[in-house]
Amino acid sequence: MALAEQPRETQQAHQTHQARQATPPEVMDYERSYVERRAGSQRLYSEAVGVFPSGVTHDHRFLQPFPIYCTRGQGARKWDVDGNEYVDYVGGHGALLLGHSHPDVVRAVQEQMPRGTHLGAGHEAEVRWGQLVQRLVPSAARVKFTASGTEATHLAIRLARSFSGKTRIVKFEGHFHGWHDYATAAVEPPYDVPTSSGVPAEALATMLVLPGDLVAVEQALAAGDVGAVIVEPTGGAWGTLPLDQAFCEGLRRLTKQHDALLIFDEVITGFRCSPGGAQTAYGITPDLTTMAKVLAGGLPGGAVAGRADVMSILEFDGNRPGWNRGGRIAHPGTFNGNPLSAAAGIACLEIVARGDVHRHVNRLAELLRRGMNDAARPFGLDGCVYGTFSMFHVSLDRSLLGTGGEARRYAKSKGAADAKLRRAMLVQGIDLMGTGGMLSLAHTEADVERTIAAFGHALAALEHEGVL
Ligand SMILES: Cc1ncc(COP(=O)(O)O)c(C=O)c1O
Repeated sequence: MALAEQPRETQQAHQTHQARQATPPEVMDYERSYVERRAGSQRLYSEAVGVFPSGVTHDHRFLQPFPIYCTRGQGARKWDVDGNEYVDYVGGHGALLLGHSHPDVVRAVQEQMPRGTHLGAGHEAEVRWGQLVQRLVPSAARVKFTASGTEATHLAIRLARSFSGKTRIVKFEGHFHGWHDYATAAVEPPYDVPTSSGVPAEALATMLVLPGDLVAVEQALAAGDVGAVIVEPTGGAWGTLPLDQAFCEGLRRLTKQHDALLIFDEVITGFRCSPGGAQTAYGITPDLTTMAKVLAGGLPGGAVAGRADVMSILEFDGNRPGWNRGGRIAHPGTFNGNPLSAAAGIACLEIVARGDVHRHVNRLAELLRRGMNDAARPFGLDGCVYGTFSMFHVSLDRSLLGTGGEARRYAKSKGAADAKLRRAMLVQGIDLMGTGGMLSLAHTEADVERTIAAFGHALAALEHEGVL
């Protein structure tokens, strides 16, 4: 009988057998290959554990038996201390929409460096940078720079509370807004366990955690004590738990109806989904927007932007008794709007403003998602790669595939297979951000094809190992 006429299971078994046959032996034995070709990273890690808790400076860089240590990045590539080359989908945790060391950004920073890294005063570049944000982001009537995305969401929540006079803030299950106290609520399942100890229960009690469900939002807002709703507009963890435009439109309508502010956390999506972020792509203007990452062109920096009346709480006003001390929100921060970040941010946003970056990264991401799903089909995992704009996610939790119902279908799975996938891709020269990634202007179709092939080999190795 021809293969096409045989039962689906037989065809699938045949295809997986073929995929396994085509997978190089060093990938089939990827755990050993990972260690063997990374003696330098292993050595640095053994020193790092004596310096940093668990040897890492960011939780997401933690990987067993040791993470990679890199020396440089250029375009879509980076290299580790052992000379291994990677196609990089971590992209500076989403900051590098233009890829590593874009020449315009490098030039801007090099020109600024000898003129000073901190002038202890206002400077022209911060004004130009802020004006670019105003021009690109529809909600940005006023802008305030911070040093990070965490600081931006912290300030946005404080602004919302002060403006509304209401303490409660709605956040959604699985959404990540940084690591300040309020942001530790309901980041990873089980959502009733905060991601950190050391956070006062009183702080957590001010956060009202909801599933991504407009009925629940409406009920919560009807109580009248919610100051703001904060949301990652494409869904929790940059779309790992997808939300769509209709949901965000519903949030806009409900927050207006119930006199609560809407905060779009665009730390990842800002300038990435379109020159004006997800809000421009969706045609929805929130009251406040938080930004970082692409904003500063690969250097540190964040911002809150929003309605002039809300942002005016940050203003000094000597004519209002009691305002400057207790009325306004105090907001210092040594590196807010610093000249180096401003130089990099301006260079980056001027390129972002052209709009052609987004056509490129979105098209490549679509090719990548489609190709990876084709590679996953023989393993019965078709549909395991998903995402929007220039982002992609992989869910290897077979039990979720094909179960229907958005909330169940997508989960922040942290199974053993996830870290294994990461290592099986690393040995093939592909660095993922967790189990997904983000594309940059520097990625090419050849990078995408290489990644698809590597993904097929990685799945063959994981299947052979019995972890899929
Ligand atoms: C949506 C979102 N908000 C806030 C943050 C925190 O930003 P930062 O790491 O700059 O503090 C992040 C970081 O990844 C993020 O993805």
